[in-house]
Amino acid sequence: MNRPLVIAHRGASAYAPENTMSAIKKAVQLGSDGIEIDVQLSKDGHVVVIHDTTVNRTSNGNGKVSSMTLEQLKTLDFGSWFSKEFKNEPICTLEEVFDYLKDWDGLINVEIKKEWFQFNSIEKRVVELIDKFDIRNKIIVSSFSTLSLLTIKRLDKDIPTGILYSSPAKEFILLAKLFKIDAIHPWYKDVTKDMKEAAVKGNIKIHTYTVDDVVEMKKLAKLGVNGIITNIPDVALKALNNL
Ligand code: G3P
Ligand code: MG
Repeated sequence: MNRPLVIAHRGASAYAPENTMSAIKKAVQLGSDGIEIDVQLSKDGHVVVIHDTTVNRTSNGNGKVSSMTLEQLKTLDFGSWFSKEFKNEPICTLEEVFDYLKDWDGLINVEIKKEWFQFNSIEKRVVELIDKFDIRNKIIVSSFSTLSLLTIKRLDKDIPTGILYSSPAKEFILLAKLFKIDAIHPWYKDVTKDMKEAAVKGNIKIHTYTVDDVVEMKKLAKLGVNGIITNIPDVALKALNNL
């Protein structure tokens, strides 16, 4: 394929509530090359798919994800905030997502959400689930937490990882090289020709987020990024397939 991978951000989150099975199914249906989802640990140690540290914005409940059990989280409605059509959409676990995508021919980007002061065993649980479904060849684990990525690498050096960042610091490429991290995941406005050249030299991929503007998508494709993370995978596919 001579164009960047089109990776659906939080599933196809322009069309269905982010990080839910509906958004993931929609991303598959639209022909996305990859799907990005955010994960955290519930109080009782389940890896659940949700972006914020609290359930407040994306459900009808209130409270921190880390202080609720899976059973409590499953009682909440994660769809109605988006549209009535998705009323009673439940939170999903990473295990449910892997089970659904295990035979899908695309890239699964699992983004671990973890604050620097948070200590839990989410990395171990994620690696266990990757092993359970034997899907190492279609996974990339990313995080803003370098520590989290190093923990993944320590648990299994063969799981591909991507370091996320939101500032144009060149140090991240150095850091990626130093720690044998496979990709950088920069904010799209920070991607430059120099960055691409440095990445090529270091054999590091660039997956950039979150690009919903067709002009920008085309520019980034010309620069040679390896993946574009977008809320509108259908629009991106149309734009990039016709370059
Ligand atoms: O993984 C790319 C992107 O999802 C990072 O930002 O806040 O949308 O998780 P955020
Ligand atoms: Mg994310």
